[in-house]
Amino acid sequence: MRVRLIIFFLLSGMIARSQNAKHPADKELLYGKDLIARTAYYLGPKGKVAALTNGMNCQNCHNDAGAKFYGLNLMATAATYPQYMPRTGNVMSIAGRINGCFQRSLNGKTLDTRSREMKAMITYIKWLGKDVPKGQKSAGSSVLKLAYMDKAANPIKGKTVFIQKCQVCHGATGVGLLSADQTVYTYPPLWGKHSYNDGAGLYRITTFAAFVKSNMPFGTTYKNPQLTDEEAWNVAAFVNSQPRPHFDQHKDWKDISKKPIDFPFGPYADQFSQSQHKFGPYKPIAYIQKKSITKKA
Ligand code: HEC
Ligand code: HEC
Repeated sequence: MRVRLIIFFLLSGMIARSQNAKHPADKELLYGKDLIARTAYYLGPKGKVAALTNGMNCQNCHNDAGAKFYGLNLMATAATYPQYMPRTGNVMSIAGRINGCFQRSLNGKTLDTRSREMKAMITYIKWLGKDVPKGQKSAGSSVLKLAYMDKAANPIKGKTVFIQKCQVCHGATGVGLLSADQTVYTYPPLWGKHSYNDGAGLYRITTFAAFVKSNMPFGTTYKNPQLTDEEAWNVAAFVNSQPRPHFDQHKDWKDISKKPIDFPFGPYADQFSQSQHKFGPYKPIAYIQKKSITKKA
């Protein structure tokens, strides 16, 4: 009898905890999730906590607060950080990576790594990845990369894709649409001064094309893409040819041979032009890179 009673109390305690997040650890977790979903409310230009960012939400890119398959999914993050990052040339913590997105994707200022907000976001990201074994990638993490085309991506054809399939939400001038109270984006900007800057991950067209193919127009999943690969590459080339804030990257890529194939700024360790790195065709670059790796080995 006593055992049953104890089990009853234990169980009801657990149920109460999961139903209302009164427990301090759950509160922090939910705060972390909300910071990722509604970043602008807390940290945007009119943020309740501080004004640090361009007004976008992390979730605009990390869809469903980082839980959507191939929607810049964050489920493998906790298992794969700290991690060496060739961009900065050092070992990067989750906090460092989050601050990278603050400076580049949110074109803003860094968040104090000791702040309640940073800790809450990390708690949430760790919870999201709690079932992923250390060092492994989970199904659906990051984006689903597209195969390279034989030709270069074409920004002029991409403009047609934009007009037909994107501007209804993101606006004819690409600057998005703010909510009625002007505090948060109903449709986030794709370019212009409130968009991600040219140091952000989405400014590389392999990442942009992959994200858009699995997630846009809004409502798309990787299982029911609406664009052909070519349309995704072309619209990526168009959007990333439009004006946006500049980020000083002179300290990045100390080893230029580690630059990703589509890194849009020289100098490069190979002979291909800046335009070919930005728009492709990538297969000849990939071929040379592979050959030089085999030669070194
Ligand atoms: C404009 C789009 C955009 C926004 C907004 C954005 N990010 Fe990112 N973020 C990216 C891209 C692109 C990457 C690189 C992902 C990749 O290569 O898999 C990335 C990477 C990350 C990573 C590393 C993921 C991994 O597993 O390697 C973390 C953590 C992260 N972002 C957190 C955040 C947080 C927190 C915010 C909000 C404060 C935020 N990001 C806002 C686009 C964005
Ligand atoms: C039906 C409306 C709608 C259409 C059409 C649409 N989007 Fe989006 N897009 C959204 C919304 C809403 C978000 C933010 C998602 C979120 O916060 O969950 C978004 C986010 C994005 C993002 C990441 C955030 C940013 O602003 O940089 C990119 C990139 C993007 N869309 C590109 C496109 C492209 C390219 C097309 C056309 C192929 C397109 N979208 C069509 C509604 C739309």
